[in-house]
Amino acid sequence: MPTIRILDREGLETAHEAAEGISVMEIIRNAGHDEVLALCGGQCACATCHVYVDEEYLGILPSMSEDENDLLDSSDHRQANSRLSCQIEFHAALTGLRLQIGPDE
Ligand code: FES
Repeated sequence: MPTIRILDREGLETAHEAAEGISVMEIIRNAGHDEVLALCGGQCACATCHVYVDEEYLGILPSMSEDENDLLDSSDHRQANSRLSCQIEFHAALTGLRLQIGPDE
């Protein structure tokens, strides 16, 4: 099964199996990273699923919607590699994806 690599807020990196067809936010939550609150359940309305994606993967991610862009703009912690993990559906081409969990919003 494909895997993704998650760097948590304490700086610990772990690899996790990733099922295709679900969001990266769900993969992170299923891996036990409860610090990703995902308060809106993936409806692109809370930004509590904020992650920083390794730059080598940015080009193969699905493009950002206007709603995601607007919501990230409301964060004080936005960076060039910021994404909302609920807006990224995982598929095999993203195998090895490495991301860092964003700070508390
Ligand atoms: S879970 Fe709320 S914006 Fe992603």
